Amino acid sequence: CTPGGSTPAPTSSSTPAPWAPPAEPMAFPKGYTWGASTSAFQIEGALTADGRGASVWDTFAALPGKIVDRSTGDPAADQYHRYADDVALMSSLGLGAYRFSISWSRVMPTGTGEVNQPGLDYYRRLVDALVGAGIQPTITLFHWDLPQTLQDAGGWTSRDTAARFADYAAVCFDALGDANADWLTVNEPKTHAFVGHWYGTHAPGLRDADTAAAAVHHQLLAHGLAVQRFRESGVPGRIGAALNLIPVIATEPDYPEAATFTDARENRLFLDPILKGAYPDDALGDEPGQLPADATAFLALQQPGDLDIISEPCDLLAVQYYGVTGVDGIGNTVEVAPTSAASWQQIDPQGLYDLLMRLKDEYPAIPLIITENGIPDPTADLTVDDPDRVEFLRAHFQQAARAIGDGVPLEGHYVWSLLDNFEWAEGYTQRWGIVAVDFETQERTPKKSAGYFADVIAANAVSK
Ligand code: NOJ
Repeated sequence: CTPGGSTPAPTSSSTPAPWAPPAEPMAFPKGYTWGASTSAFQIEGALTADGRGASVWDTFAALPGKIVDRSTGDPAADQYHRYADDVALMSSLGLGAYRFSISWSRVMPTGTGEVNQPGLDYYRRLVDALVGAGIQPTITLFHWDLPQTLQDAGGWTSRDTAARFADYAAVCFDALGDANADWLTVNEPKTHAFVGHWYGTHAPGLRDADTAAAAVHHQLLAHGLAVQRFRESGVPGRIGAALNLIPVIATEPDYPEAATFTDARENRLFLDPILKGAYPDDALGDEPGQLPADATAFLALQQPGDLDIISEPCDLLAVQYYGVTGVDGIGNTVEVAPTSAASWQQIDPQGLYDLLMRLKDEYPAIPLIITENGIPDPTADLTVDDPDRVEFLRAHFQQAARAIGDGVPLEGHYVWSLLDNFEWAEGYTQRWGIVAVDFETQERTPKKSAGYFADVIAANAVSK
């Protein structure tokens, strides 16, 4: 019993107090890159213009029942014809960088051989417009739209696709290398491998874990071969891969194994080969949380030297962050944070800090950029009033600034997305843009979040 009968306040607690942003603005380093991202199939439209060949997404979107609103990539946001206006829009927001992807089948309609010059010329015009406006191009070489002819020859199950990718990459370095760009080899190889080859809800619509494992290895090999070709080309600029990473939270601390296996499958299967030159030994198998693929067959795909190629030193790692996931003792997903209109997205800004600190602490030092971060509007309706996105961005910018303060070599932050666009199997029903697009008229209207983002860019600081 305490003298006087009062209960003393606890002096210590096992859970640390949640981090709170400081009262004063958090400044970003001078030269910090503020950008917005898109990808070719999601915004360009013009699917048959100037000799473009078909990609797996043209084929997939044409199949009944694959896209919720039965839409296709035409006209999307028609950036193929409106790029000059879009660059002016970027300038008005003060963007320092624009991340877009090159459509492989515009440049090489069958994925290999003869270059389609008019297709390549489009990217020359876009790059020139960006550079002319003082906006740095950040160029993704593969954002899931594999030329259909290559898919017909086996796609990412075939080792040859990695070699074809390196040839295509070399054409792009040669044509656009003078832009001194940041180059990204493959975008989210995990999503393309798992959702496209295991769950079957993205192109090419396959449902087989062994095929997904092959798609992992061959995309990573493609990445490494392209990095080698970039070095050989001698063009200025930097190169790396864009990985979507996700903190995995064990909801049953007494049974953390399923969460550990999920982390191996979701994160280490990609990070370790690129940054450490070795695959983790716990990502594939029949345990809850693992990719249920045959580990022996996966090993058999690998030729001597592959991991040296995959771990060819890069200039940067591009991180795409959408949130966290909870995993129970038997490998089921558990909701541990509020979701957005994208049911897979559990929003947790603090998870970004934790992820960045983990990269700093567990991997060899490498400059980091965040190349995707965002949420969809709550409904499919066109709106410019997006308070949730403003708060999402604010909270994530704060966690990024906090990580920089704690020593993370983070050099830039790109929002997904510049424009409302074709959100893959969700068609036009999920609007991820900071700029609204009326898909009937193609009119662009900046949302409130675009104004908020412009203010952050102008201040190079995030306020409470
Ligand atoms: C990741 C992908 O790279 C991008 O294409 C997609 O639209 C966003 N996430 C949102 O789902």
